[in-house]
Amino acid sequence: MKKNIAVLPGDGVGPEVTMEAVKVLEKIAEKFNHKFIFKEGLIGAIAIDKTGTPYPDETHQLCLKSDAVLFGAIGDPKYDNDPKAKVRPEQGLLKMRKSLDLYVNLRPIKTFPFLINQSPLKPEIIKGVDFIFVRELTGGIYFGKPRGRRKNGEEAFDTSTYSRKEIIRVAKIAFDLAMKRNRKITVVDKANVLETSRLWRETVQDQMTNNSSPITIEYMFVDNAAMQIIKNPRQFDVILTENMFGDILPDEASVITGSIGMLPSTSIGDKIALYEPIHGSYPKATGKNTANPIGSILSTAMMLDYSFGLKKESQAVYNAVEKTLNNGLGTKDIVDKDPLSTSDLGNAIINFI
Ligand code: IPM
Ligand code: MN
Repeated sequence: MKKNIAVLPGDGVGPEVTMEAVKVLEKIAEKFNHKFIFKEGLIGAIAIDKTGTPYPDETHQLCLKSDAVLFGAIGDPKYDNDPKAKVRPEQGLLKMRKSLDLYVNLRPIKTFPFLINQSPLKPEIIKGVDFIFVRELTGGIYFGKPRGRRKNGEEAFDTSTYSRKEIIRVAKIAFDLAMKRNRKITVVDKANVLETSRLWRETVQDQMTNNSSPITIEYMFVDNAAMQIIKNPRQFDVILTENMFGDILPDEASVITGSIGMLPSTSIGDKIALYEPIHGSYPKATGKNTANPIGSILSTAMMLDYSFGLKKESQAVYNAVEKTLNNGLGTKDIVDKDPLSTSDLGNAIINFI
């Protein structure tokens, strides 16, 4: 199989972890006789430095021509500490999501048996946890208009907007996923306060009566969900939620797995899908060769399966990561004794493929 993969390393530790993910894909290509062609594009702070914009058109064209996108991370403290900055790296990511119409983001939360003691949560609570966030990604308060300043800049406002159409298309993805899993969806919202949340509930309920499907649907307020995720995470199978809540809750849930560095994600539209670790640019670790590449490497496993239909190859990546962990190998966020560098952990995983 021949595939074109756009590689957007981005900022911070993005380039370091992405490089390991590319190495893994190269190894898979060699072993299973595929041809993957990698082309790099700019995004984020590095793109601003080089071109003045965080998502140059060249990068957009590259993504459109590719079969999948492998993305690293975005963000730079020099912008975080400057609320007045006119262009921000994050705008690049948001613009990419919008212009590629990546309207859903999937974030699986699964415990790795080897890391069960690495989490600050009790083993008996997190053992066997296996659920997935279905996050709406191109709507809500992230994109709603109007937004800005008024009253001479003394007042700021954002708008959260959702249409029925936007809710239906992401709900369909959640339904399909739930059918392949344990057939339970928890819709997380704030319907006791927000009109958009009430439209979410109404729309999901309508979808269900049209479907007569065997899926159990539960509705949960986001504040309670934040507690339940830590208190009893095994109750969840598929969590369907809007953009903002879907940004916040997976970071919380990552604590269950022992390290946010372990978690892959994919953003899907009707044309193309993007794969990325859920962690950010982690500026403090930039250039130190210490960041955990597993989130990025597992993102390639998702790519092989979801975008290319290469199940065996995808499984080979998961198995190699598992073997590496079972051998006590890992970066310093997941092992206390003799942690490996980013590149050494990447090499160890490749050796197990
Ligand atoms: C994420 C990130 C982004 C988001 C930022 C960098 C814009 O936190 O992918 O979760 O808020 O969606
Ligand atoms: Mn986030």
